Amino acid sequence: MTVTEDRTGPELDLEAGFDRTIGADQRVEPRDWMPEAYRKTLIRQIAQHAHSEIIGMQPEGNWILRAPSLRRKAILLAKVQDEAGHGMYLYAAAETLGVDREELTEKLISSKQKYSSIFNYPTLSYADIGVIGWLVDGAAICNQVPLCRCSYGPYARAMVRICKEESFHQRQGFELLLAMVNGTDAQKAMVQESVDRWWWPSLMMFGPPDDDSPNSAQSMAWGIKRHTNDELRQRFVDMSVPQAAALGVTLPDPELVWNEDRKSHDYGEPDWAEFKAVIAGSGPANAQRVAHRRRAHENGAWVREAAQAYADKQAARAREQEVPA
Ligand SMILES: [Fe+2]
Ligand SMILES: [Fe+2]
Repeated sequence: MTVTEDRTGPELDLEAGFDRTIGADQRVEPRDWMPEAYRKTLIRQIAQHAHSEIIGMQPEGNWILRAPSLRRKAILLAKVQDEAGHGMYLYAAAETLGVDREELTEKLISSKQKYSSIFNYPTLSYADIGVIGWLVDGAAICNQVPLCRCSYGPYARAMVRICKEESFHQRQGFELLLAMVNGTDAQKAMVQESVDRWWWPSLMMFGPPDDDSPNSAQSMAWGIKRHTNDELRQRFVDMSVPQAAALGVTLPDPELVWNEDRKSHDYGEPDWAEFKAVIAGSGPANAQRVAHRRRAHENGAWVREAAQAYADKQAARAREQEVPA
């Protein structure tokens, strides 16, 4: 970390304290001094994560009314509701850094803050519900388990609960796919078609390759990030291959092969031009996702106003009761 010349003595002490906390692998808490760049990085990352949970409700919510059975509908409803909860924990964690949830939502609906590229792809069949659980929640777990040890306490603690629920999501996706691949030929084909569409976008969830990921080194030095994008992507590929074999589906990568020397799978290069285009807003569903979120936010204005009016009334009443008789 660079120390700028205009810092005063006490601030240098604070910075040394922060460095000691990070060096000892301890948690930074909201009351602690932290460098402004650390705070900003965390706000950006946690907000992006919260937005992903909330926007991620849309592609799956799309199928709630068309679930093939009451059982599947109940499962999907519960899963989508979990994602809303994840968004709420994460906005709350971001608020401990001095930002307001309203401000973050404004940034999302005006496209000033991003969310995971994966949610800009459409869900075209019910197999997509299974494949999202298996691959998308699976990739999220690979990314998020190390965040349970993130240096910022409120984020790390939120991630512990989120990860437990994400592993349940992954299992429900796999269970749905298992039912489908043991069903009719048409169902099996539906699963394969879905895997073909989601495999590469799932690999892109880990972000750009390490040599094109300029902020990673600083995030690792701060203990926010524990593994590089390519390490996590490799872990995901190695985890998915035996699971694909158990399902009897083919992962759509002709270069995917076991490498005995590395004790890992070699795999092909995702289409990074597509990734960049989706991140920049040109994915198949970016405009639809953001417009839907904006509409939902506007439609909810009366709820926020009513809640605020109620809170104000309660506060006024509490003040009246404090006045001595
Ligand atoms: Fe989630
Ligand atoms: Fe999930």
